[in-house]
Amino acid sequence: MQENIKPHTYKVSATDRRKSNTHNSLLIWFTGLSGSGKSTIANRLEQELHALNIKTYALDGDNVRNGINKDLSFSAEDRTENIRRIAEVANLMIDAGLVVIASFVSPYKKDRDNIRDIVKDVNFVEIFVNTSLAECERRDVKGLYEKARAGLIKDMTGISSPYEAPDNPDIEIKTEKESVDQAVDRIIAYIKPRLNLKNE
Ligand code: ADX
Repeated sequence: MQENIKPHTYKVSATDRRKSNTHNSLLIWFTGLSGSGKSTIANRLEQELHALNIKTYALDGDNVRNGINKDLSFSAEDRTENIRRIAEVANLMIDAGLVVIASFVSPYKKDRDNIRDIVKDVNFVEIFVNTSLAECERRDVKGLYEKARAGLIKDMTGISSPYEAPDNPDIEIKTEKESVDQAVDRIIAYIKPRLNLKNE
């Protein structure tokens, strides 16, 4: 099938779009347990970037799983497909010139390596939101851990499904020791040179 598909090259390029946005595009990927604080940090980060006039878009597990990925479960195979589709969507958004902020449990190393391959290394910033399972369970914002312990949810990450922590993330955030503001400041300091902002 694919041999009959010939990509069309459009005249307006990613470089043109980045130039008119006056910044580079990249994918900032948050990984960590459910309830670790990924979305909270991502949300604050997006507000800060938006205030700097940077074109952003946020992709989030609970949102994407209500739409494009609503057919997927939490089995290992479906999580792999979840992350693959998101990486492809993020890749289009990078091509569109955006700074994409993605927050997904993404528990498997091989799936996260695959994102790096899809979007290319230079565009990818991996952030490990490292909150202990004990703390995530204590917060239990969505009540999922309680349900998982009661056997009402299967394949719950950290309880009945593994989480493979990154060995060498670009940034690690220990939310039990660092505030959201401190984490966001560190992320911005890290990505600023990669954004190639005008007047910086
Ligand atoms: S991933 O593992 O495939 O990357 P994703 O980030 O899309 O997961 O979705 C995780 C969100 O779905 C969690 O924040 C949580 O709210 C919800 N969820 C429901 N069931 C599970 C489960 N079994 N394991 C993890 N998260 C779950």
